[in-house]
Amino acid sequence: MAPAGNVTSLFRTTAAHTPSYAALTRESEGDGPTDFCIPCNPYFPSPAMFDELSVRLREILTYYPSSADTITAELCAVLGLPAQCLAMGNGSTELITWIDHLLVRESLAVPVPTFGRWTDQPMETGKRVDMFPLPEADGFALDPAAYVQFIRTRGSRVAVLCNPNNPDGGYQPRRAVLSLLDALQDLDLVVVDESFLEFSDAETEPSVVQDAMLRPNVIVLRSLGKNFGLHGVRFGYLVANPALAGKVRAALPKWNLNSFAETVVFMLKEHGREYAESLHLVRRDRIEMSRLLSALPGLTVYPSQGNFLFVRLPVGTDGTTVRDRLLTEHRILVRECGNKIGSSSRFLRLVVRPQPDVLRLVAGLEQVLYEGGRGAAVPEPGQGARYSSGTAAVDRLVGSTNGAGLVGLAAQIRSAGLAGRGEVR
Ligand SMILES: Cc1ncc(COP(=O)(O)O)c(C=O)c1O
Repeated sequence: MAPAGNVTSLFRTTAAHTPSYAALTRESEGDGPTDFCIPCNPYFPSPAMFDELSVRLREILTYYPSSADTITAELCAVLGLPAQCLAMGNGSTELITWIDHLLVRESLAVPVPTFGRWTDQPMETGKRVDMFPLPEADGFALDPAAYVQFIRTRGSRVAVLCNPNNPDGGYQPRRAVLSLLDALQDLDLVVVDESFLEFSDAETEPSVVQDAMLRPNVIVLRSLGKNFGLHGVRFGYLVANPALAGKVRAALPKWNLNSFAETVVFMLKEHGREYAESLHLVRRDRIEMSRLLSALPGLTVYPSQGNFLFVRLPVGTDGTTVRDRLLTEHRILVRECGNKIGSSSRFLRLVVRPQPDVLRLVAGLEQVLYEGGRGAAVPEPGQGARYSSGTAAVDRLVGSTNGAGLVGLAAQIRSAGLAGRGEVR
């Protein structure tokens, strides 16, 4: 592996987002780390499906894909949804971009912390973003009535709800989502981002996809990369009434879906059983991982319906130091959440993985968090995560809430003589 500084410096140069797995692997000069950062499904595609994709690699890379309409029609056949109500994008991020360009005119409300594109994308195009803070004191749970009240007070014209939410995994039952949609019928648009909903097991029918098709101002967004464990393919879709879905479809660039996306979509019919089994395994692993992490002293694990767990580190612990040490000393990659608006460096998002990986994570955390004595993972002054979204407004906002506090904390701990063995990392 390359010297520790090379790998961890990637987090400081690309602070707006976690560096890509490919970049980390290049810097590590070998196999990449065990990934607890990118929330994909470790059980799908099955090994046999990967073998099939490998055999077809040459053909996939050589030829143009079919049109997006052909690929979308096949996805609709698999999902049992009418094609006129669907638009497929090059990742759901592409659809968020087009939703913003086409349907967000002046303002958008979103609970934070959340997926960064829901705050940064509309800010980048000059919209007002009304951020509704999810209270840490309530375990980041969303109170839908308070959110509606907030939207009324701010006069927001578009509202977003991620269900489950990223990074905390917070979940709203279907009837609560429908009440929210009822309360917000006069808005220009309400987006329910169900990108992680397939991993939930709270209800048998948790989705509002069927309702979105019948309502004038509702879009449901879904990310196939997450469900199918294939983030690199870049595919996702939205469901809405035919007019709304058609408006987005008409704006999408020609050949926005690639041949890998086409191949996978056309394989789905044959592999529904493996997919359902993979979701079952992720849900099982979530329970087990939550149990193992909850046993670590001082660590708080929040209830999650996603394929990730949001955890709060023990008092006085800095996530950037934990992240860097897990990566360099244990080859484990985690998502430190200091650059997420509404979160801080005390929080990590950990992807649900099979038990052997989780046991390695727990062993790494035990060493990093407790072996150096109290304060073992407290940062050096000035090491706080520096967020750069490329947008001055976002940077100013984050700069005022993140980073500086960490310096203060390190200084306090030093002066109180709490840093075990004199080691303050
Ligand atoms: C809530 C949510 N929506 C959408 C996305 C975008 O997913 P993709 O563009 O990979 O489909 C993400 C990515 O993390 C997310 O967390």
